[in-house]
Amino acid sequence: MCGIVGYIGNKPAKDILLNGLSKLEYRGYDSAGVAIRNENGFDIIKSKGKLENLKNKLKDKNLFGTCGIGHTRWATHGEPTEFNAHPHNSYNENVVVVHNGIIENYLEIKEKLVTYGYTFYSQTDTEVIAKLIDFYLNETNQNPIQAISKFMLRVTGSYALAIMFKNLKDEIYVARKDSPLIIGICNNENFIASDVPAILRYTKDVYYLDNYQMAKISTNSTIFYNIDGMEVKKKLTHIQMDLSSAEKNGFEHFMLKEIHEQPEAIEKTIKSLVKNEDIFLDRTGITNDFLSKIENIFIIGCGSAYHVGITLKYVFEKLANINVQVDFASEFRYRNPVLLKNTLLIVISQSGETADSLAGLKEAKKQKVPTLGIVNVVGSSIAREVDYVLYTLAGPEISVATTKAYSAQLVAGYLLAIKLAECKNKINQITRKELIKDVIEIPDKISVILKRQNEIQMLSSKFVNVKNIFLIGRNIDYAVVLEGSLKMKEVSYIHTEAYPAGELKHGTISLIENNSLVIGSISNINLAEKTFSNMLETKSRGAILLGFLTKDIRSTICDYVFEVPQINPLFANSLVIVPMQIMSYYLSVLKGNDVDKPRNLAKSVTVE
Ligand code: M6R
Repeated sequence: MCGIVGYIGNKPAKDILLNGLSKLEYRGYDSAGVAIRNENGFDIIKSKGKLENLKNKLKDKNLFGTCGIGHTRWATHGEPTEFNAHPHNSYNENVVVVHNGIIENYLEIKEKLVTYGYTFYSQTDTEVIAKLIDFYLNETNQNPIQAISKFMLRVTGSYALAIMFKNLKDEIYVARKDSPLIIGICNNENFIASDVPAILRYTKDVYYLDNYQMAKISTNSTIFYNIDGMEVKKKLTHIQMDLSSAEKNGFEHFMLKEIHEQPEAIEKTIKSLVKNEDIFLDRTGITNDFLSKIENIFIIGCGSAYHVGITLKYVFEKLANINVQVDFASEFRYRNPVLLKNTLLIVISQSGETADSLAGLKEAKKQKVPTLGIVNVVGSSIAREVDYVLYTLAGPEISVATTKAYSAQLVAGYLLAIKLAECKNKINQITRKELIKDVIEIPDKISVILKRQNEIQMLSSKFVNVKNIFLIGRNIDYAVVLEGSLKMKEVSYIHTEAYPAGELKHGTISLIENNSLVIGSISNINLAEKTFSNMLETKSRGAILLGFLTKDIRSTICDYVFEVPQINPLFANSLVIVPMQIMSYYLSVLKGNDVDKPRNLAKSVTVE
């Protein structure tokens, strides 16, 4: 999704903005631009496509301004053209704006502004922002805070804004609602960004802007305001993330690096919750008494986070014998979800900023049920909206395709399920200890798989030209093939479908033809024969069979097998997903795709 950077200080802004934008590239974008102050106003330079195009345009330009804003745009309103790229401005560059988010009522506002003589050059909602603020600037006798505040009261939707005014040379203004924005503080210079990696190189001390807040940023000061224009004090946060986590460290792609970081991400998450073989949720604010009263669980999320929810449904049901429902956040909010008494709503999100998940969460809060977030990004919108937050400690995830965050979410969920089962007296002490031990062993077992990366690379090279891949599994194996299928299609662009093994014969089997690849995941010996039978049904129609099996399961029918270490079937997803991730990665590399930034996708989807 879109990215924002800003700089005000004593150094030329150009390189700082470009560097910041390059660190936001992973979020996905299709055009980019900067506005840099000059003696009379601004140099506004934009380009379609990769940041490289913008860099080339800026290469020979002598821009020495020490104040500027920049943006990477992921098109929502209007095509990815130079006209639609940010920054946008009111007439005469009186107001120059970059924006993340969506203004829902922009058309209606645009019509009004036209009646006041404003004309528009782009199809974007952001141009409307620049002009509306300009309009209010005139109405408020050129008072920027009052003008922005009036804008905030007038619009609906979401926004993070960085704004420069032609006549206020030493200041940048920011405002936010439902889209993240941080201000990085340094000596004699300040930074603005929509995401930490953009400014990590310069500072780790940041302010998180809250909803309906504004700030006036100059070289030496940052003043915060609430929507009434009253000054507010905010707490400075020191970010723990280090610079290397936003670098590739010798790996060819972030995706591969992050696949290899999984043992560490999982171990850190486990260590934050397990002490002396017992699970402690104190950090989340959740008490044993609270858990003992929970009778229903509702999980929402999008994409891979939703798949974690599906996996956890099986785990919660099995261990805590509790009713669990899982829904796509984007669907949950538009139906009539009935959240029964004593329901815990769990929202899962790596970024903590996914618009659908955030909206689903707000819907649940209206029904006054307690909410828990399993979130990776500290201080993100979801983390701040939920009643309780269980942080995964996966560290920053740059590749659009999630890997380590997914794995960390799984273990956080397993531990929550064990704790819930304990609090509801559904498991005895011995079982609890065994389960915790099983979870603790996951990182080492993943490391064993990672050492066999070459085998999967070899397998991938055999399948790079297949047109369709069908992935099947039963029970928890169905949950893992959902994720494996998403991973493969998003980075390799090969059409894949995931099905419960028994469901294929109810229609989809008609698509199987000679050389279709069917992948079966089997980690529960009790269900193995059934899934093998379903695989055989496809083999007799020409399919090639690849099995991802746990060590105890023997196949006589698969053409290819990749064996993962033995594990409690409840937690098998954590292992089986790893070869699927590696296979997705190599299919993408072999096809020459942009692995970390697959086409049309964005890292954090902050629009509905
Ligand atoms: O940041 P979130 O976990 O809320 O993101 C949810 C999905 O957008 C995300 O998992 C997406 O499906 C990934 N690209 C999958 O790799």
